[in-house]
Parts: sequence; C-alpha cells; structure tokens
Amino acid sequence: MKNIMVTGGAGFIGSNFVHYMLGKYDNYNIIVYDKLTYAGNLDNLRDVVDDPRYHFVKGDICDATTVEETIRKYQIDTIVNFAAETHVDRSIMNPDAFIQTSVYGTYVLLEATRKFGLERFHQISTDEVYGHIPHGRSSVETDKLEPRSPYAASKASADLLVNAYFVTYGLPVTITRGSNNIGPYQYPEKVVPLFATNAIDYEPLPVYGDGRQMREYQYVQDHCEAIDIVLHKGQLGEAYNVGTGEEMENLKMVEILLETLDRPRSLIRHVKDRPGHDRRYSMNSDKVKALGWQPRHTPEEAIRKTAEWYRDNEWWWRKIKSGEFKKYYEAQYGERLRETTNPAK
Ligand code: NAD
Ligand code: TYD
Repeated sequence: MKNIMVTGGAGFIGSNFVHYMLGKYDNYNIIVYDKLTYAGNLDNLRDVVDDPRYHFVKGDICDATTVEETIRKYQIDTIVNFAAETHVDRSIMNPDAFIQTSVYGTYVLLEATRKFGLERFHQISTDEVYGHIPHGRSSVETDKLEPRSPYAASKASADLLVNAYFVTYGLPVTITRGSNNIGPYQYPEKVVPLFATNAIDYEPLPVYGDGRQMREYQYVQDHCEAIDIVLHKGQLGEAYNVGTGEEMENLKMVEILLETLDRPRSLIRHVKDRPGHDRRYSMNSDKVKALGWQPRHTPEEAIRKTAEWYRDNEWWWRKIKSGEFKKYYEAQYGERLRETTNPAK
C-alpha cells in the first residue's frame, strides 16, 4: 500500500481519515477524490493542502473515465470509499442521489479495482445496514442486513456488491461498519453538530419523538484508527463492526451537550418523529477488537470534545449554516417547529 485514493475525502469522516493517515505514516500518498457535493468541503482539508503527499481530484465516483484517469495518474493501489450521500432525513426527502452514489458509484469503483488489479478496496459502511436492533441484542457481522431507510438500503446494497465482487472475482475487499461518528468537520445537519451549533446560538433543539432512541456515538478519530487497523490487518472478504459498545439515548446526549455548552434545557423541543425512525442500533465489535483496536473515548467524552470543537470553530460552521443549509432547515424543521411549543419536561 502506497498510493491511497480516498473517495469522499472532503467530507466529515474522510477528511479526518486523511489527517489521521498523514499524521501517522510518512510513506503513504493520499489522493482525495471527491465530487464536492453540499457536504464536501475543502476547509476540512486546509491543514494538509501544502503537504506534498496530499493531492486533490474533483470527481464523481459514478464517472468511470475520471476514476480510471485518477488511478493511472497517481498509480493508485488502494481505494478507501467514503463517498456517499449520508443523511437519513435527506434520503427520505429525495433518495435518488443516494442510490446513484452508493449503488452505481460503488459498482464503478469495484470495476476499476478489478480492471487495474488494485491491492485493496475498502468500503466504509454503517451500523444502519442491520436496521433496528431490539433491546438485549447486538448485531454481529454475519447478521442479516435489514435496512429500513433509503440511506441504509443504499449502504446495504453497496455492502452486498462488495461481497459479490469478493465471491465472484476474488477481489481483495474489506468492509468496516461504523456506528454514529461525531467530531470535527461534521456537517451540521447531523444531530450532534446541529444541536451544538443551535445551542451556541440559543436556537431550539428539535428532538424527534420522545428522544429515547439509542445510538453508539463514537469519536471520529477512533473510527479512523479502526479503518487503518482493518486496512493493515483485516482479512480479505470480511466485514468488521466498529463501535464503542455503549449506546446512549438521544436525550442523554442532549443533556451532555447542553451542560458542556452551558445552555438551558428549555431549548429542547420534542417535534414530530422521523418516519421509520430506527429506535436502537447496537453492535458487537469484538471482531475488530481482536485485531487490536479499542475506542479511546467514551461516548460522553466524544460528545463533550465535539461540543467544544464547535464552540471553538465558528469560522468553520457559520458559513455552512447560511446558504443551502437554510433552505434544507426550513424544509426539514419549519413545520415541525411551528407545530410544537413544548419546552422540555
Ligand atoms: P459526509 O456527507 O460528510 O461526506 C461525504 C463525502 O462524499 C462528501 O465530501 C461528498 O462531497 C462526497 N461525495 C458524495 N457523493 C459523491 C460522489 N458521487 N462522488 C464523489 N464524492 C462524493 O459523510 P460522512 O459522515 O463523512 O460519511 C462518510 C462515509 O462513512 C459514508 O459512506 C457514510 O455512509 C459512512 N458512515 C458514516 C457515519 C457517520 O456517523 N457519519 C457512520 C458510519 C458510516
Ligand atoms: P443522525 O445524526 O441523523 O444520525 P442517524 O439517524 O443516521 O443515526 O441522528 C441521530 C439520532 O438523532 C437519531 O436517533 C435521530 C435523532 N435526531 C433528532 O432527534 N433530531 C434531529 O434534528 C436529527 C437530525 C436527528
């Protein structure tokens, strides 16, 4: 492994992965390949632009010609695929781009991996492919995929394609399925950065339904470390769950955020729930732990650290929260917030 193409590397986790890899290794070149959708942001990579080991190509993973040109030009031997449309609420509004990028785009990358005989194709997947998990259970990698949102279904489809290319063509693939990541550079449509930035501005926090849904919030750098370990030590054809093993109710996450930012609970609004909302995700991550990985942050530490980052980095998020974001916010929350006047109980 020498020349790594990081697709979707201008997004949240991808850019953290680029920082992580350039910081940890001297001898890898990182080629970020990104379409720069609304979620892609070169500010996320501004700390590495002068690094001679870093290169940026603007391109769509659905565009086979540009993908192949990039592989030739930079002598790519490894693809780590973060590129996707990633927000469940947007997938409910309009699933089209989700299917395009995660299904067709992943297929294009797999075909390129095959054509050029690359050393590795690594797919970044999610715990959402398992669907809602009842209390008392945690998903293991061999569980049936039962996605319930268009986003989750697009990611599960990509996982199935990756596995099919392993079985059919013997492609050297691996998959990691991460739980909810939080940390620097996460677009403020996802719950933690949305609530942190709203709270900083004393704006309401729209909690869906009763707020008792459970997620495994993990710090993004921990996830990046797990991806690195699977790239180096993972077994080909295998998927690895990556989570803390500690689920937390959304209301508890909100409480920690408000306390960290010193904001009142009266900002909480219970609003109309997300359709098909998965109440609980929970993964067993023993398989990746057996490769030597351990999360370095508890969910509580991750939430506090993330809130502090947003408090200290207004330069990054204020410009995002104007523009396209405002239209999205009105479409997603306008009606919900107007219907609701209930401050927290
Ligand atoms: P993000 O939305 O912040 O970033 C996605 C990036 O992909 C953006 O830079 C965007 O410009 C790029 N992109 C989108 N479509 C593209 C296309 N067709 N061609 C090239 N680039 C394209 O997402 P994220 O939160 O960083 O998630 C990254 C990956 O990790 C995704 O595959 C997601 O499903 C997965 N994942 C995310 C989480 C999470 O909590 N955020 C958890 C588990 C897995
Ligand atoms: P999100 O960050 O969208 O991640 P995902 O749905 O992919 O897990 O949401 C995390 C949790 O927070 C989920 O249970 C939905 C909830 N949520 C709210 O209550 N209000 C919001 O405005 C958002 C965006 C999410």
